[in-house]
Amino acid sequence: MQDMKEIIERINKLKTELNAVILAHNYQRPEVQDIADFTGDSLGLSQQVVNSDADVIVFCGVDFMGESAAILSPEKTVLLPEKEAGCPMAEMVDVISLDDEKKKHPDAAVVCYVNSSALIKAQSDICCTSANAIDVVNSLEEDEVIFVPDKNLGNYVAGFTDKKIYAWDGFCPTHHQMRAHDVIKAKEGHPDALFLAHPECRTEVLDLADEVLSTTGMLNYAKKSDAKEFIIGTENGLLHRLSKENPEKKFYYVSEFTICTNMKITTLESVLDALENMQYVITVPEDTRLKAKKALDRMLAVKR
Ligand code: 13P
Ligand code: SF4
Repeated sequence: MQDMKEIIERINKLKTELNAVILAHNYQRPEVQDIADFTGDSLGLSQQVVNSDADVIVFCGVDFMGESAAILSPEKTVLLPEKEAGCPMAEMVDVISLDDEKKKHPDAAVVCYVNSSALIKAQSDICCTSANAIDVVNSLEEDEVIFVPDKNLGNYVAGFTDKKIYAWDGFCPTHHQMRAHDVIKAKEGHPDALFLAHPECRTEVLDLADEVLSTTGMLNYAKKSDAKEFIIGTENGLLHRLSKENPEKKFYYVSEFTICTNMKITTLESVLDALENMQYVITVPEDTRLKAKKALDRMLAVKR
């Protein structure tokens, strides 16, 4: 085991030499978030990629996030420090099944949550994130929408639109395992706390929420709110930033088991290895990239 301080120094030195920038999702390990140039939600990180003049992007997150970066900025080298960091929900939809669904609903627009592969994005009309899903759906001319892959987010959006939503049967195992009784127990333990939930949670959990927000939405809300205590209904990695940015407030998780193992594979050692060996480079075939970029660009142009 190398000394942590030495690893951080080597990361910072290589970052300067390579003109690299480190992006970390809000669910990453605390020490990885702390060395990142930017931490954020999927939408915020995508925008950072577009606006950055770095040559190398080290994306501490999961593969679909690295792919989004490569789609938006093909001139940059995008590195995913751990090649096994995938998203089980993204794998719950495939091109052939989506094509069958499109045939069943030929007048429907396809909205795909960014938690999906480049191939699925390329087959979609527009992407969305948890922060902008309602605005994206309501921006469409079509009256029908095939929403992939998250049924929980799709069903949540259906409550805020007149459009007919055909929600795919996918889900995020980390959020989906949270149940209403877990939330009720947490509320009993912390009766003065507000409950903030991520829209990847089941409807029974969202029904108990004071606010339904993306991860960055939760960070903004907690900062502005007069409340002093919050129960956080999302992956527990978010509690690091919440506590750091609001030392006078208290944050509780719903369950100690609300952990996405894929988000936790990346370590400081793997970030250093990524920069030393320029690994693992994420590329997307050009025809897929161009189609997927259209769906991402269309999302980024939606006013919020
Ligand atoms: P956001 O940070 O965009 O809310 O996404 C949640 C998530 O599950 C990412 O994998
Ligand atoms: Fe995928 Fe859920 Fe993990 Fe996000 S938290 S990467 S949606 S499994």
